[in-house]
Amino acid sequence: MNIMQPVPKAAAKQQHVIDVRDLDKKFIDAVFSRAETLGHMRNDSLKGKSLCWVAESASTRTGMSFKAAITQLGGAHDSLPDPEHSSESKGESFEDTIRVVGTYHDVIVIRSKDAAFPSNAAKLSSVPVINAGNGPDQHPTQALLDAFTVKQKLGTLEGLKIALVGDLSRGRAPRSLALLFAKHYPNNEFVGVGPEELWMDTDVVEYLKEQKVRYSEVKRLTDVIGEVDVVYMTRLQKEHPRKGLFGVEYPQLTLELAKKLDRHALIMHPLPANRERELPYSIDGLPQAIYLKDQLRAGLAVRKAILQELLLDK
Ligand code: NCD
Repeated sequence: MNIMQPVPKAAAKQQHVIDVRDLDKKFIDAVFSRAETLGHMRNDSLKGKSLCWVAESASTRTGMSFKAAITQLGGAHDSLPDPEHSSESKGESFEDTIRVVGTYHDVIVIRSKDAAFPSNAAKLSSVPVINAGNGPDQHPTQALLDAFTVKQKLGTLEGLKIALVGDLSRGRAPRSLALLFAKHYPNNEFVGVGPEELWMDTDVVEYLKEQKVRYSEVKRLTDVIGEVDVVYMTRLQKEHPRKGLFGVEYPQLTLELAKKLDRHALIMHPLPANRERELPYSIDGLPQAIYLKDQLRAGLAVRKAILQELLLDK
C-alpha cells in the first residue's frame, strides 16, 4: 500500500522581486491592498523573520524604508559588511556568500552596481531576493510604490498621461515605472521629456511599442506641462558616466512652469533630487508636490506589504 499522500500543490507564489515585467498581477494587487492599511502601522506579523540588506552602492530611502518596514512588523534586519570587512576580502565567492546570507535570513534585499547581481542571486538563493536597484537597469519596488501613490491620489491607473522627465536613459526609476505600466496597466500614455542624449533606451521603447503603449518624446517641459496627470522628475545619474553630455540643457520644473499644471496633477520624484537643477525648493509648497509626502510615505507602506506577501504563509 502506498502510504505517501500526494502533497497539495501550493498556489503559485511570487518568489522574488527582480524585474517588474515578471511580477504576477495578483501579487501587485495584493501588495497594493495590504499597503492601504499598513502605513505606519506596527504589529508582530513578521515576528521571527529577518531581512539582510546587501548594498554595493549608495542608498538612503530604499535601505532605510526596508529596515523600518521589517522592524515595524516585528522582524529584524542585518546588513552584509562591506567588501573590506566581509569574507569577500578573503576571496569568498559570490555564490557562497549568497548561500550564507540565505541560511541566516528570510529575505535578501540587494542594491547592486551590476545589473545581473539580483537575478544571479535569486537563482542561488533558497529565500526570496528583492532587487532594490541594479545599476541603471531597474528598481521594481520604487515602481510599485510610485504606481501605488498614483492610484491612491488619482484613484486609477488607467487613462493617464504621464511625463517622465530628465535622465531616462540611465534612470532605473523612470525605466521601471514605464515597464511596470506597460506590462500591467497599458491603457496610459507616456511622454519622455529632456535632451535627446538622455531619451529612453531602445529596450524600454521597444517594450512600450510591443505592449501598444503610446509613447513620444519632447525636449521641453513647456510642450506638455498643461496636459499631463503626472510629472515624474528625475536627477542626472552622474554615477553612471557617459560621454557627450557636456552642456546639455537639463529640464527644470520652475515655479512658473509648475503653475501651469492641472490642479489635480501630481509632481513626483524618486529622490534624491538636485535642488539647484530639476526640483527647486520653491515648488515644495504646491498642492501637486507629493515627493516629500505621499510618495515618500508610500515607500514604507509598500515595502511592508511586499515583505508580508513574500514572507507570510498563506
Ligand atoms: C532612486 C534610485 O536609487 O534609483 N532613488 C531611490 O531609490 N529613491 C533614484 C535616484 O537615485 O536617482
